[in-house]
Amino acid sequence: MFASKIDQTLPRDVFYRDLAASLASLLEGESDPLANLANASALLGQALPRINWCGFYVLRGEELVLGPFQGKPACVRIAMGKGVCGTAAARRETLLVPDVNAFPGHIACDADSRSEIVVPIVAGGTLRGVLDIDSPEPGRFDVEDQKGLEAFVATLTPRINWDTA
Ligand code: SME
Repeated sequence: MFASKIDQTLPRDVFYRDLAASLASLLEGESDPLANLANASALLGQALPRINWCGFYVLRGEELVLGPFQGKPACVRIAMGKGVCGTAAARRETLLVPDVNAFPGHIACDADSRSEIVVPIVAGGTLRGVLDIDSPEPGRFDVEDQKGLEAFVATLTPRINWDTA
């Protein structure tokens, strides 16, 4: 069993560097999408403080479909351009949402969520899905989290055989 012991009191750049290193070691030798997204969501769920949901939506045709996650059951299908996830996917840009109630079209899967970050997953120029993380705390995520989570996704993306996702 892989034990994640990332010190949450570390400066965040160090924390996120350790997190990406843990991910790389966790996924070593494996490229199965379901297995690797499942372990990546479990690692995030253990390591990140003050969150209530973290996980993946995978692009299937023109829709994002729920993938491995940690948290309450969530909405299954999100159209491109809809909600925070669909908007980040359509723009291929990370979205930092300090107040989900102020985001037009936000899709409320967990009523406890107050802030959110969504990082698109693009492999070799092709959009494959998004990483979505919610917090019960307003303004939980900032640009340092954005950088760290984009590095997490950059570590994850080449370690998945997306053609079998
Ligand atoms: N809030 C997201 C939907 C997914 S849940 O947060 C898990 C959105 O607006 O796209």
